[in-house]
Amino acid sequence: MMCVSSPQTTLSEKPTSAPTGNPSAAAGNEPVRIGPFELSSPVVLAPMAGVTNVAFRTLCREQERARTGTVSGLYVCEMVTARALVERNEKTMHMTTFAPDEDPRSLQLYTTDPKWTYEAAKMIVEENLADHIDMNFGCPVPKVTRKGGGSALPYKRRLFGNIVAAAVKATEGTDIPVTVKFRVGIDDEHHTHLDAGRIAATEGAKAVALHARTAAQRYSGEADWSQIARLKEHMVDSGFANIPVLGNGDIFAATDARAMMDATGCDGVVVGRGCLGRPWLFAELSAELRGEEVPAPPTFGEVAGIIRRHAELLVQHEGERKGCRDLRKHISWYLRGYPAGGEIRKALAASARSPNSTRSSRRFTTARTPWPCPRTRTGRAVGRALPRRSCCPRAGSTIRRTRRCRRAPRSCTRAGSIPTTETVEAQRAKLTQTFYYLTHAYRLPRTNG
Ligand SMILES: Cc1cc2nc3c(=O)[nH]c(=O)nc-3n(C[C@H](O)[C@H](O)[C@H](O)COP(=O)(O)O)c2cc1C
Repeated sequence: MMCVSSPQTTLSEKPTSAPTGNPSAAAGNEPVRIGPFELSSPVVLAPMAGVTNVAFRTLCREQERARTGTVSGLYVCEMVTARALVERNEKTMHMTTFAPDEDPRSLQLYTTDPKWTYEAAKMIVEENLADHIDMNFGCPVPKVTRKGGGSALPYKRRLFGNIVAAAVKATEGTDIPVTVKFRVGIDDEHHTHLDAGRIAATEGAKAVALHARTAAQRYSGEADWSQIARLKEHMVDSGFANIPVLGNGDIFAATDARAMMDATGCDGVVVGRGCLGRPWLFAELSAELRGEEVPAPPTFGEVAGIIRRHAELLVQHEGERKGCRDLRKHISWYLRGYPAGGEIRKALAASARSPNSTRSSRRFTTARTPWPCPRTRTGRAVGRALPRRSCCPRAGSTIRRTRRCRRAPRSCTRAGSIPTTETVEAQRAKLTQTFYYLTHAYRLPRTNG
C-alpha cells in the first residue's frame, strides 16, 4: 500500500522553515501513513533493546491516552533477531509479546542475511505475530559493525537491498508494511543514508527512519539534523516523496520535535532516550505536533504512581524477579531528571537506616510540583545520559556496574553484573525504599499543610 500523507513537493514550493520536506506534515495537519496505518500524530517510540517491551509500551500508551484522550503514534517493540525468531528461541518469542489492545503491533527485526530475513518475515505473516515490521540497520556496537553488520550494513548496498527486498517479498499480499531504520553512515567519510533511503524505498519499504549520527559517533555529540533534511530532499528528488522520512536523534521535549520537523521537513519523529523515565512524553509530543495544548507534566505525586504502574506491568511481563531487576534501571532514569537526584539517593540511603526520618525529604517538593523536564536539545542537560548498558548487551542494569564493565569487558557476565547474593527480597526492599521516599515526599505537603 502506498503512503498518501506526503504529497509530492518540489523544492521551490518549500518554505524556508521546512526547506526540504512536507510542509503540511511539518505543520502537524496531515496524518502520516505507513502502509495501511494512519498515524494521527507523527510520533514513533524508537525501538530500544531492553526497554521497549510490552510493559514500557503499555505504560507509554496509557499515559498518552490519559493525557490526550487518544493513542496516536506508533510504539515499536524492542528488536528481535531474525534467526532467533525463526529458531523459536524462548526469550525471543517472549519478546514478541504484545498487549491485547495494541494496534498496530510493531516489531523490529535485526538481521544481516536475506534468507533469515525472509523466513522471519514469513513467520510473522503466517503466525500473525505483528502488523508492522521495522528493520534495524542502526546498531553501532563495534563488535557488530566490524563484521559488517548493524549500521555498517548499508555500506554493502546490494546486500542491504536484498535484505529489505526479502522482507518485502515475504509480506507481499498482506497489509504488513516494512520500514527501515538506519544511521547516517559508518563515519564522516562513509555516509550511506542517502543511498539507504533510496534503495529501501526502491525495494518496497513504506517509510525510512534516520538516526542522524554515524556509527562512529554512537550516541555522542549532537545528532546532525541537517542530514535528515538531506535525506528528505534526496527521497523527494528520487521520486519517493510519498515515502515518509522519520527523523531521529536528540528529541527530549515537545519543542525539540517541533524544531526537528520545522528544520528538516521530515514527516515524523522517532523518540528514544527522551522517554526514558518519562513515559508521558508521547502525550506532550503528539499534542504539540497536532497543534493542541501540550498537557502539563505530571506532578511529583503522579510520577510515584506511574513508577508503581511500571513495576506492576514489568512484573506481569517478566515475573517478579526479572521485573524488579529491570525496574531498577527505569527508577534511575525516572530520578535522573530530578534536580535533587543526588540528594534523593542520599535520602533513600537515610530512609533505609531510619525509615521514620523526614528531615532529608522535607527539603524536596510538593505533590503538585511538576516533574521537571531534564533536558531539551538546546537546553542544559541535567544528568540524563545514555545508559551504558546499551553498549554492552550482556551488562547488568545499573549505570555504575556497566561503567566498570566497560573497562573490563571480560568480567562482564550476567551472573557477575547482578550479584547472585541479591535476593528478590533485597531488590524489593530497595524498591520499597524508593517508593517510600516518593510517597513520603508526596505526603509531606498534605500533612504539613
Ligand atoms: C537503550 C537503547 C537501546 C536501543 N536499542 C535499539 C534497537 O534495538 N534498535 C534500534 O533500531 N535502535 C536502538 N536504539 C537506538 C534508538 O532507537 C535511537 O535511534 C537512538 O537512541 C537515538 O534517538 P534518541 O536521540 O531519541 O535517543 C537503542 C537506543 C538505546 C538508548
